[in-house]
Amino acid sequence: MKLVYLSLAALPALAQDIEAGKALFSKHCSFCHGANAQGGERAAGITDRDLRTRADLRDVIATGLPGKGMPATALGAAPMRDLIAYLRSLEPAAAAAGALAAIRVNGPNFAAIAKPEPGEWPSYHGDIGGNRHSPLAQVDASNVSRLKVRWMFSLTGTPRLQVTPVVYDGAMYVTAPNEVHAIDPGTGRAIWRFRRPRTQGLAGDAASGINRGVAILGRRLFFVTDHAHLIALDRASGQLLWDIAMADHTKNYGATSAPLIVNDLVVSGHSGGDEGARGYLAAYRPEDGKEVWRFWTVPAPGEPGSETWKGKEWEHGCAATWLTGTYDVAQNLLLWPVGNPCPDYNGDERKGDNLYSNSVIALDPATGKLRWHFQFTPHDLHDWDATETPMVVDLDGRKRLAHADRNGFLYLLDRETGKPVYVKPFVDKLTWATGVDQTTGRPMVNPASIPTEAGVRACPAVEGATNWFSTAFHPGTGLLYVQALEKCSIYTKAPAVWRAGESHYGGDTKRVPGEQGRKYLRAIDLRTGGKRWEIAQEGPANTWGGVMSTAGGLVFFGHDDGSFAAADARNGKLLWRFEANQTWKASPMTYVHRGRQFVAIAAGSNVLAFGL
Ligand code: HEC
Repeated sequence: MKLVYLSLAALPALAQDIEAGKALFSKHCSFCHGANAQGGERAAGITDRDLRTRADLRDVIATGLPGKGMPATALGAAPMRDLIAYLRSLEPAAAAAGALAAIRVNGPNFAAIAKPEPGEWPSYHGDIGGNRHSPLAQVDASNVSRLKVRWMFSLTGTPRLQVTPVVYDGAMYVTAPNEVHAIDPGTGRAIWRFRRPRTQGLAGDAASGINRGVAILGRRLFFVTDHAHLIALDRASGQLLWDIAMADHTKNYGATSAPLIVNDLVVSGHSGGDEGARGYLAAYRPEDGKEVWRFWTVPAPGEPGSETWKGKEWEHGCAATWLTGTYDVAQNLLLWPVGNPCPDYNGDERKGDNLYSNSVIALDPATGKLRWHFQFTPHDLHDWDATETPMVVDLDGRKRLAHADRNGFLYLLDRETGKPVYVKPFVDKLTWATGVDQTTGRPMVNPASIPTEAGVRACPAVEGATNWFSTAFHPGTGLLYVQALEKCSIYTKAPAVWRAGESHYGGDTKRVPGEQGRKYLRAIDLRTGGKRWEIAQEGPANTWGGVMSTAGGLVFFGHDDGSFAAADARNGKLLWRFEANQTWKASPMTYVHRGRQFVAIAAGSNVLAFGL
C-alpha cells in the first residue's frame, strides 16, 4: 500500500488537477494576486521562485502572512493539493530569469575569499580575519559630504535587519530570517529570492527573527535557518541544492549568523545561547552538507574541561557559537567566539570556570581539534558572551588578536599562544572586576557585583560594554574603533529549570533607576590600549550599529541619534551623516561596482546603498 501511495504522490500533476487549482485560485486568491497569478493591485504575482516545496506552500496558504495582509485560507486536503499543483505549474518571472545571466558562477574559490580583490566583500566581515577595514579610498574625507543614497532594497516583514550584505562578482546577497535575496549591487534590482516560512515554537534569538547573512564558495551559497538547518543554494539561480538539520530545534537550537568558509569546509555555529542549547561548532562538506567534525564548547563528563562544570547544568550549559568566527591565514587557524554559560546569573549548578564559555577557541580547521583557548570571563554571572569579533591583526610584525569584550576589557592576545599581551578597560563604568592579572588575563572578580535574589548593581550593563556588532582596526592610524556603552544594570538571581521552547535564565536584569546610559564611538591606540579620541553620542543608548574603517581615512558607524555617520579616522571629527532615524542593529560594509565605491548598511527593514 505504501509503495502505491508513494508512486501516486510522485506522479506529475494531472491537467485536470491544475485546472481545478486554477479555479480555486480565482475564487480565493486572484482578488489580491491578480488573474492567473500575474500580480494585482493588492499583492505581487506568484512564480515558482516564491516557495520551493509543497509543504512551504501549504503553510503559507493555511496560515497566511498576517504581517503582510495575506489572510489564512482553510482548504481540505484535495483542494489544497490542486491549488498547489496550479501554483507549481507557474513559470518563473521572465525578468528574474533574464537577470540571472549577470551572475557568473565560477568562483569564488577559497583564495578569493581569504585574500579578496579590493572592492569585493565575499564573506561576513569582508576580511576573513574579521577586521572591518576596507582598502577602498574612492570615498574619502574630502568628498564624503557628497555621499547620497543610490538605492534601497526592502525586506518587508523584518523590522530590524542584522545582515551584512556579501558582494561578489556583480551580485549582492542579503538575508532576513529564512530568506535570501540576490540583488544587483549597482541598482538594487532583485535577481532572485529564496524564502521559507518562519518556524513556529522557537525560543530566543531564532524566534525573534535574526539572520546576519550568507557565505559563498564557488557556485554555492550557504545560509542558516531559524530552526538550525544549513541550506545550500545555487548562487546564480537560488535553486535549493541541499538542506540539512545541524541540530534539533525542539531542544532550543536555532541559528542566526552567517557561516564561514575555511579552506574546503563550511563552518557554522548555532544560537540558543540563553535557551540551554549545549554549545558546539561544526564543519560541513559544501557538496552535500555532511558533517566533518564537531567541537563541543561544553565538554561532556570525563572529557578535558568537564571539571570546570560542577553541578547538573552542563547539559544545558549553552556556550553557544552564535556569531561568525574568523580565520588566521598565516597560521591556518580557525578562531571562534563563544557565548555565555547557562543558566545566566545563577552559577549554583555549574561551579567552576565553565569552559569554553566566554572564550575564544582556536581550532585546526581540518579536524576541529583545539590548539589553544582564552577565556575572557570565567564562571560568568552577567551574560557576557564573548561573541564579539576576534580580530586577526598584525602589529609591528607580530601576530595579534584584538578583541573588545562585552565585559568591558580590551584584550590584545598573542595569536600563536593565546596568551595576553595586555588587558585594559575601554569603559569607565566597570565594577564587576577590580582588575585583571596581566600575565594570565584572569579577572579579579568584585564579590559585590555577584547577582543576588535582592539584586545588585554592576557595570557594564547586561547589553555589555560592547556586543556582537563589528569593530575595526585601521593600520594607517594604528587605532581600533569600537562602539562602547557606559551603563550599568541591576542583576538578580533566581532558580532556573530548563524547558523546551523557553529561555534558560536563572534571574533577570533591570535598569538602574535614574541612570541614563551613553554610547561612545571610541578610538583606541592598539599598541598601548590608551584612548585617542571618542564621539559621545546623543541618544537613547540603544544603537547596535557596528563600525567600519576605510583607507579613505573614514570610520562609518550607526550613530545613537539614528543617523548613519562617518568620522575622520584620525581625530573623530564628524564629517557626514544621513538621517535614517534607525535603532541600528547592523554593521556597515563597502564594495565597488563598475568602478564606483558604494557603502551599504541594513537599516530597519531596508538595505541602503550610498555612493558619490
Ligand atoms: C488579501 C490579499 C491576499 C489574498 C486573498 C491572498 N494573498 Fe497571497 N499574498 C498577499 C500579500 C500582500 C503577499 C506578500 C507579497 C509580497 O511581499 O510581495 C502575499 C504573498 C503570497 C505568496 C508568496 C509567499 C512569500 O513568502 O512571499 C504566495 C505563494 C501567496 N501569497 C499565495 C497565495 C494564495 C495561494 C492565495 C489564495 C489561497 C493567496 N495568496 C491569497 C496577499 C494576499
